[in-house]
Amino acid sequence: AIDPQFEDNREVVDEHEGHKVWGPVDEPEQLGIHGTHVAVDFDICLADGACLEDCPVDVFEWTDTPGHPESEIKADPVNEAQCIDCMLCVDVCPVDAIDVDPG
Ligand code: SF4
Ligand code: F3S
Ligand code: ZN
Repeated sequence: AIDPQFEDNREVVDEHEGHKVWGPVDEPEQLGIHGTHVAVDFDICLADGACLEDCPVDVFEWTDTPGHPESEIKADPVNEAQCIDCMLCVDVCPVDAIDVDPG
């Protein structure tokens, strides 16, 4: 599961589509965590797609991650600023790849 303390335990190494990327990153095998308020651990996501289907405000879009061992697409939190903290994505992800911090 994603580390809920990732902001303490990781460093920001990049930016992508307007959100932060928390390392370590070693492409294509290791991709880190994308987003902060809505955070997706790309190294855990296996492209189930429930988060994209269920998010009521369309926070997520697919992004291509060719060569990653778990899946070659990931749910990217491109609209994390629109999140309404319903926690549905956290509940439906089968591998607990998503962390949302209500604030
Ligand atoms: Fe979307 Fe709700 Fe997840 Fe926020 S908590 S990203 S609104 S499903
Ligand atoms: Fe990935 Fe979980 Fe969404 S596996 S596509 S973050 S439901
Ligand atoms: Zn991203």
